[in-house]
Amino acid sequence: MEQLLFINACVRGEKSRSLKLTRRFLEGWRKAHPDSTVTEVDLCKLRPVPQYPEVLAQRDELWNAGKLDDPMFDLAHQFAGADKIVIAAPFWDLSYPAILKIYLERISVTNITFGYDEQGNSVGLCRADKLLLITTRGGNFSLPETAWMEMGARQLEALCTMYGIPSFQCLAAEGLDDVRNDKQAILNEAMGRADALAEVF
Ligand SMILES: Cc1cc2nc3c(=O)[nH]c(=O)nc-3n(C[C@H](O)[C@H](O)[C@H](O)COP(=O)(O)O)c2cc1C
Repeated sequence: MEQLLFINACVRGEKSRSLKLTRRFLEGWRKAHPDSTVTEVDLCKLRPVPQYPEVLAQRDELWNAGKLDDPMFDLAHQFAGADKIVIAAPFWDLSYPAILKIYLERISVTNITFGYDEQGNSVGLCRADKLLLITTRGGNFSLPETAWMEMGARQLEALCTMYGIPSFQCLAAEGLDDVRNDKQAILNEAMGRADALAEVF
């Protein structure tokens, strides 16, 4: 039995196309993995507090006292212990909504999600073997001339290396706000890719 952790950063809620695509993926994944569980962390409900000075000071104090079992680190332990991770987030300002960055800062805790070996090398401590980002974008940022501007998937891919998660994948539907495109056709095609990926993820 596997535990899939679903991080929901879709700020527009049920109107979100990224969320619709993710729900389709999860529906397929549940069918393909009937004994597994999906745990959702809805960031707009959870509203994690940014690491303002006092929050960071509290975190440092707890960490220095070795209190890694404090509730402040619950999200980090949950992330570190998941078998599979799915993040749903729209493409905002060339990356993703700030609420997701706040979450990532909160779960990036030394000796929980990542650490260092005796030689000082960075070591990932997360259990998951796969992390999937599901996103939709207004423009197309997979073209040779635009791919360099995409900062969301690329940042998450780099973080996967830090966390020790060997496989990063991104399921994206692009060009959804380009008036020249058939939005429904783009979404339908992405739904098909979501179904196929759900079988093997
Ligand atoms: C605050 C905000 C910022 C956005 N920034 C970008 C952007 O930088 N590039 C882009 O192509 N689309 C951008 N978009 C468009 C969204 O990526 C696109 O509409 C996407 O499908 C929204 O996903 P959702 O339906 O899951 O909310 C932005 C939309 C919003 C609301």
